[in-house]
Amino acid sequence: MNNINIGVLTSGGDAPGMNACIRAIVRTGIHYNMNIIGIRKGYEGLINNDFYKLNIESVANIIHKGGTILKTARSQDFINTDGMQKSYENLIKNNINVLIAIGGNGTLNGIYKFHNKYEIPVIFIPATIDNNLYGTDITIGYDTAINTVTNIIDKIRDTAESHDRLFFVEVMGKNTGHIAINTGISSGAGTVILPKYHNNLDHLFEHLLKSRRNKSSKIIIISEHNNIGNTFEIAKKVKNHFSSYDIKVTILGHVQRGGKPTCRDRIIASKMGYESIRAIIKNIKNIMIGIINDKIKYSDLNLIINKKKDNVDNIDSVLNMIDILSS
Ligand code: F6P
Repeated sequence: MNNINIGVLTSGGDAPGMNACIRAIVRTGIHYNMNIIGIRKGYEGLINNDFYKLNIESVANIIHKGGTILKTARSQDFINTDGMQKSYENLIKNNINVLIAIGGNGTLNGIYKFHNKYEIPVIFIPATIDNNLYGTDITIGYDTAINTVTNIIDKIRDTAESHDRLFFVEVMGKNTGHIAINTGISSGAGTVILPKYHNNLDHLFEHLLKSRRNKSSKIIIISEHNNIGNTFEIAKKVKNHFSSYDIKVTILGHVQRGGKPTCRDRIIASKMGYESIRAIIKNIKNIMIGIINDKIKYSDLNLIINKKKDNVDNIDSVLNMIDILSS
């Protein structure tokens, strides 16, 4: 397809696998004779006209790298009228025919509003460690993040065990708690506190009361954005009730966003990037490229916008399993 110019940007929190996705977009696009134009720093680059042409070499040796070569930002200016208008003018100036945005919830909302206002054809690719987007089973970066968290908790377990300590480990994941519950399983945690699900500490206290007395070290995972409070406050409340526990808190923070993407993230990122160009060739636009039951799924943006992804399925049963397996 000659004379087609595709703009591509990454926006919001970076996620491991974004580079593999950019690589797939660039190489597939060039294979089909398109021009691929990188936009630096997400929507900020759109506003500031920070565009540059990408070629095969620009994406050499990046498939294994975390972060994003295009850089990213959480742009406050894009959502105001002035920011969107400047972005539109820059897209016209650069002859961009389709804009591909790679990112999370904020990026999706931004691209949707932009498309609705200016009728610019867009494609959205879901990439966030939170895995909190409706319309796809998995987002780019999530698998790496849960592997990172699991590896770190394995290390915490060594020291917890040596000192007979109770550790509260806070993980990211925004409003859905996917990171918390699945790393709860993979790290053999005692229990997990989730957003939108736990409103008090009854479940945790019950767990601590009934768990084996002679098992002195324990790991409890606390998801950020839970309804109860921050992890230090939770630890304090537990200490007030169970004074014999030697309690420590570890906030994992941004380490969860870095590092080499896992094999799974590289695969889904490559597939989503490749499929975004295939969609453009088929003249399918204004969609999110998702993966449902291991198959690529195009979802019309109108059908997924404002829809919320739930916590994991069967949450009671999964929590019960975590309890039983850690007994
Ligand atoms: O959306 C990804 C994420 O890492 C969330 O898990 C977390 O709440 C947030 O971004 C942190 O954002 P920032 O890097 O802007 O502090």
